[in-house]
Amino acid sequence: MEKKKFINFKMIKELTPYIKKERWLFLSGLTMMLITSTLRLIDPLIIGHIVDKVVPDNDIGKLYQFAGLFVTVIVLSGLLTYYQVILLSKMGIKIVTRLKMQMFDKFLHLPVGYFDHNPVGELIARVESDCENVRQLFSDLSVTIFGNLLFFLGMLIVMFLRHFNVTLLLLIPISIIIISLFLLVSYLGKFYRKIRELNSQITGIITEYIQGISIIQLFNQQKRVISILDDKSKIKRNTDARATFTEYSFWGLFGFLIETVFIVILIYLLAPQILLGLVTLGTLIVFIQYTQRIFWPLIMVSENINQIQRAFASIYRIFNILNLSSEYDVDKGNEKHKYQPIRFDNLIEFRNVSFQYKEDELILNNINFCIKKGEKVALVGASGSGKTTTISLLCRFYNILSGGIYVDGIHINDFDLKEWRKKIGLVLQDVYLFPGDIRENIRIYDDTIVDEKIFEALEYVGASEMITRLKNGIATEIMERGQNLSVGEKQLLSFARAIVFDPEIIILDEATASVDVLTEKKIQKAMDKILEQKTAIIIAHRLSSVIHSDKIIFFHNGNIIAAGTHNQLLNESNEYKKLVNLQFLSHKEAG
Ligand SMILES: Nc1ncnc2c1ncn2[C@@H]1O[C@H](COP(=O)(O)OP(=O)(O)OP(=O)(O)O)[C@@H](O)[C@H]1O
Ligand SMILES: [Mg+2]
Repeated sequence: MEKKKFINFKMIKELTPYIKKERWLFLSGLTMMLITSTLRLIDPLIIGHIVDKVVPDNDIGKLYQFAGLFVTVIVLSGLLTYYQVILLSKMGIKIVTRLKMQMFDKFLHLPVGYFDHNPVGELIARVESDCENVRQLFSDLSVTIFGNLLFFLGMLIVMFLRHFNVTLLLLIPISIIIISLFLLVSYLGKFYRKIRELNSQITGIITEYIQGISIIQLFNQQKRVISILDDKSKIKRNTDARATFTEYSFWGLFGFLIETVFIVILIYLLAPQILLGLVTLGTLIVFIQYTQRIFWPLIMVSENINQIQRAFASIYRIFNILNLSSEYDVDKGNEKHKYQPIRFDNLIEFRNVSFQYKEDELILNNINFCIKKGEKVALVGASGSGKTTTISLLCRFYNILSGGIYVDGIHINDFDLKEWRKKIGLVLQDVYLFPGDIRENIRIYDDTIVDEKIFEALEYVGASEMITRLKNGIATEIMERGQNLSVGEKQLLSFARAIVFDPEIIILDEATASVDVLTEKKIQKAMDKILEQKTAIIIAHRLSSVIHSDKIIFFHNGNIIAAGTHNQLLNESNEYKKLVNLQFLSHKEAG
């Protein structure tokens, strides 16, 4: 939930350690802010003094002195303002860079389930815009807000000292202006929120349609897409126009009020007293200069209030992510969990395992089966029956709802997660390739794995040929999402990736679904060789590839309805027999 407070102290507390790290930048920035705010108060006073004292005395020497002082103050104030902005911006960039790195680190350690509820595209867009808001808070916002507030206070003090009664009277129009400013800002805020929303919708639409451009072109739907976009753009354009019109009309009126009406009021209040000799002309000049100088910054402050609220909402979201517990913390939090050394000599057992992704939607219902070391076990069953879910639990991507998975009698949660995963080589249904070349995609940035081992792995899975065809070999860059490789080629790479780490347990999820028959045969042979010394779990739709497994486990709607060798299942399970008939008959027909 976003908090809608102007300043949220809890968030400031969260940010404090980050500011502390940059305390020198922070303190020097603040000091400069204090100095520049004071300097801005001084130069009107110098002009006032020249008018009141130097000119009547006809003292040319003094006039030069004060003129020099005036120029010095102006130049100094400009220089310091420049450095103050640079210092604070630098601090903002440093803090945001740290936050971003920490968030990326957090994302890499969050339980996989987090990303089921938080679409990645949206997450990235939000991180980017949240970080940008925080950067602005430090660079532009802090300068305008605090600098101008300091100046405003200093100005009131000087004005009260110079003429108490008139300043007291002036508080009335000043308050009116400030209040109407804030009203306008909250009125415009609604428009700008709507514009931002429409903007991200439009960007989302454009991104998604461009990603699917080949489908749109094939179905000739370019016109429809454009008209969808056009509708959204029209709403945005109208909202934008209304906001801009309101804003600029108001600023126009405001400029007139400040630059003309306010000066008239000042002259009206002070001129009679000047004539009576109660107030000096210099005081009138100081007052006029001050009021001229404060209102535009006030307008900027009021404009920035929405931005500040947004920045605090962003900080809230950022720390919400940073404060999530990573998957490793789940273990660390529990003192009972002294990690057990991992030994897998005999058996992996699923004991009464139940699991749900969402509340009250049981996906696995009391699953029991075991895998002996060295066995090849196949998981079969219809789409959605829970096969991938079962292996996700074995890899500890999700927490089991009830029951447990035991390796030689020890619950897998009692193992160090990293160590446990090192035992497993996983080839998933969708192959995912990362930015980088083929080498890095196979060894996943682990540079202890030398090229020799990579070539060995490629040779094993029968992918050497494909690599030699490429001009740069394993240094060939992979395009976004592996677009420059065929689906089968990607699959071969993911095989190589799984075995290069020499895991004890190999899991193949539908791994040969997208390669041609010849390649599949090749892989099958290579795999048989690799799997000789390994324990393997193979998920397959095509029974032909798994009938020789040591055990076939037949899933149906989150239950295991039969388990055993192919021949046992043929005898025991009608469902299995039906599946076999269906597949082998259609095969024959096709052949
Ligand atoms: N991340 C998820 N969040 C919510 N529900 C999920 C998630 N992943 C899978 N499911 C649901 O869990 C059920 C089992 O899915 P699972 O992926 O285990 O099936 P499967 O047997 O591997 O199917 P297939 O053969 O098509 O790969 C399905 O009904 C699916 O909709
Ligand atoms: Mg699956």
